[in-house]
Amino acid sequence: MNQKIRFNRLFACTVAALCYLMPATGYTAGGSSIPLLDAQVSLNNQGAIQRGAKYFVNYCMGCHAAEYVRYQLLENTGLTAQQIKDNLIFDSSKVSDLMKTALPQQDAVTWFSGPVPDLTLTARIRGGADWIYTYLKGFYSDPGRPLGTNNTLYPNVGMPNVLWSLEGLKDPVYRYQVRHQGAVDRGWWVLLFLSVFSALAYFMKKAWWEDIH
Ligand code: HEC
Repeated sequence: MNQKIRFNRLFACTVAALCYLMPATGYTAGGSSIPLLDAQVSLNNQGAIQRGAKYFVNYCMGCHAAEYVRYQLLENTGLTAQQIKDNLIFDSSKVSDLMKTALPQQDAVTWFSGPVPDLTLTARIRGGADWIYTYLKGFYSDPGRPLGTNNTLYPNVGMPNVLWSLEGLKDPVYRYQVRHQGAVDRGWWVLLFLSVFSALAYFMKKAWWEDIH
């Protein structure tokens, strides 16, 4: 096999790999493409952070852990160790213990068809508090889902709508919308993609048939 044919084959494999990966890229981008709401978090507002800690231990820790931090960290919000022990710990954990959940992961896999993620670093991983806020506000009724709920930011989510008793249930309102500008933009991208792809396909065909002619 001469040098040129080897190069062409390598090139063809690279293009094939890129085309194969393309749907995956689209999916990643599509997952969180709705605009995020502003959580308006103020780290100086101790009262708000204490309330957040209360909601977290009451509404979230039944399933989620924050097991890379200790309860002690909540002393930074102005609470004493005794207050933390009396109001925020419901099992035999000590204030110096890690914030673990009592839910066995095996049960989580059975009930929610997957493990429940630890939330210690979620704000960092998801790029900020706005993501979590939008996610929590994004639950809506969907009788088609196993738990009767779905999420605008996280389609087909496995988590139930745990804050419904505070916020109420939300029914979706579907709207048909034609975005002319967007459609024209996408039209050009499709044409550009098709021309580049056709050119590549032509060269690949040439390379493959070179041996035979
Ligand atoms: C009944 C169990 C349960 C409770 C209670 C619960 N969650 Fe979840 N949560 C889940 C499951 C299961 C997932 C994984 C969803 C998936 O991957 O489809 C999840 C996922 C999440 C995620 C997405 C994490 C990521 O980066 O993918 C966040 C954020 C979250 N929960 C926040 C909360 C908060 C905040 C509370 C309390 C207000 C809470 N959850 C209460 C079960 C629960």
